[in-house]
Amino acid sequence: MKIKKICCIGAGYVGGPTMSVIADKCPDIQVEVVDLNEDRINQWNNEDFENLPIYEPGLAEIVKRCRGKNLHFSSLVREKIKTADIIFISVNTPTKKYGLGAGKASDLKWVERCAREVASYASGHTIVVEKSTLPVRTAEVIKTILQASTDSINSSSGIKTFDVLSNPEFLAEGSAVSDLLFPDRVLIGGENKKAIDALSNIYKKWVPEEKILHTNIWSSELAKLTSNAFLAQRISSINSISAICESTGADVREVSRAIGKDSRIGSKFLDSGPGFGGSCFKKDILNLVYLAKFYGLNEVADFWESVVNINAWHQSRISQLVIKNLFGTLAGKKIVILGFAFKANTNDTRESAAIQICKDLINEGAYLVINDPKVSPHQITNDLGMKQLSKISETESLNMYDGLGSWNYGENLDIEIFNDAYAILVLTEWPQYSSINWKEVAKKMIQPGWIFDSRSILDSEKVKNAELNFWRVGDGS
Ligand code: NAD
Ligand code: UGA
Repeated sequence: MKIKKICCIGAGYVGGPTMSVIADKCPDIQVEVVDLNEDRINQWNNEDFENLPIYEPGLAEIVKRCRGKNLHFSSLVREKIKTADIIFISVNTPTKKYGLGAGKASDLKWVERCAREVASYASGHTIVVEKSTLPVRTAEVIKTILQASTDSINSSSGIKTFDVLSNPEFLAEGSAVSDLLFPDRVLIGGENKKAIDALSNIYKKWVPEEKILHTNIWSSELAKLTSNAFLAQRISSINSISAICESTGADVREVSRAIGKDSRIGSKFLDSGPGFGGSCFKKDILNLVYLAKFYGLNEVADFWESVVNINAWHQSRISQLVIKNLFGTLAGKKIVILGFAFKANTNDTRESAAIQICKDLINEGAYLVINDPKVSPHQITNDLGMKQLSKISETESLNMYDGLGSWNYGENLDIEIFNDAYAILVLTEWPQYSSINWKEVAKKMIQPGWIFDSRSILDSEKVKNAELNFWRVGDGS
């Protein structure tokens, strides 16, 4: 099976970067990325490569090299399905909000819609690849939909056949390009050797053969969920230990370093922070919980659910200690929030710990000034479900405090942003926050000023030398 044309349905955080790298590494393949969201497609076609819809280090350069040559972005979903040899389904699979399985199961309506579109518009033989993260046995659903179409169409018009493969994506946002270029492994689950070889041959253009793993389709689907669950479990584990450190005088950074040196444990994913965010950890663990419950494995379900519960508890622990240290009231107090993205080097805020923490502080009556180098005020408005204050009402609101908290966008990280702040809270590890001049900041703040560092990126000595109170996660010293 020679692959000449790829169609990827979904131009999001996975589809966009993954297809860009494939196009760059396989100049002989035409890669068509399609999405129903026309705004997103227009942004991918933006003349200004700095304004692509997704910010990822190194991505703009690749898109610049390939776009218009063998990488194309459009909304022509049906047309591009028709001519593709291989179709990647890379659409969103969020937690279901309604009906059976609400709050835990994945909502597969977008995946089902894709399968139906592929069933209707594909021609000849097509390999359909699950790139989205899906519940175990979803491939069966996709196969059933495709099969139903071939049964009805092959009897009337030309022959249409399909292979379904699972090829989950393991990239992390903020390092997507390097994760795609140098993956720990590429996982391909499926039955038909010819189809598996055709997909493997694409990756072999840049990934060493021994890193391309072949499994059965169900193992591949389950391995993706398990991989995210294990990573998130490590973060909940170390965050739970951070609370013990703060109570006992231990330091979570020292504990992490000590345990991470054990080669059986390893040093990655042991940084205590404000709680894990991102679009996938919580949803994928809840999906695993749903699966375990479905099969009557209630103890297994409880075990994994506790990883999510600790994460929520840890986030609320951070807001509570801010309130406690500011004398139990935030009414009308200005707090500067440094970072809103769920991690550095991305503009993504999905499930960011900053969302819940900011909501908690606003509920206590605080006035937040939120800075993030990549997140727009529009996005923060959507996430907080609250418009920012107009500049005129800002003074009014602070002078005549009426019990309602509020927020404003702090676009520039200049010294004025800290004027009259009672506290500063670091929520994302953007490197620019590490070089703030704390002596200058202290002069602008209301005393006693507090600095809360949930990412452990600040130099504690410099903050303390500026006569500011300092808290950082897991530091019991
Ligand atoms: P996303 O929301 O950024 O992008 C999905 C895109 O699919 C959207 O632009 C949406 O408009 C489009 N879409 C939905 N239905 C469509 C349809 N029928 N036709 C055409 N376009 C359609 O999502 P994402 O972050 O790229 O995640 C996609 C999948 O990959 C999810 O299953 C996720 O769990 C998984 N995943 C995500 C990451 C990550 O870092 N974000 C990493 C690994 C795996
Ligand atoms: C994660 C996985 O790392 C990817 O392998 C996976 O493909 C992806 O989910 C997915 O399926 O969506 P991502 O969520 O993009 O990637 O980013 P991570 O680097 O895993 O960070 C997730 C969250 O954990 C962030 O909020 C981060 O700040 C936090 N984190 C990470 C910690 O608090 N401590 C750590 O040591 C590491």
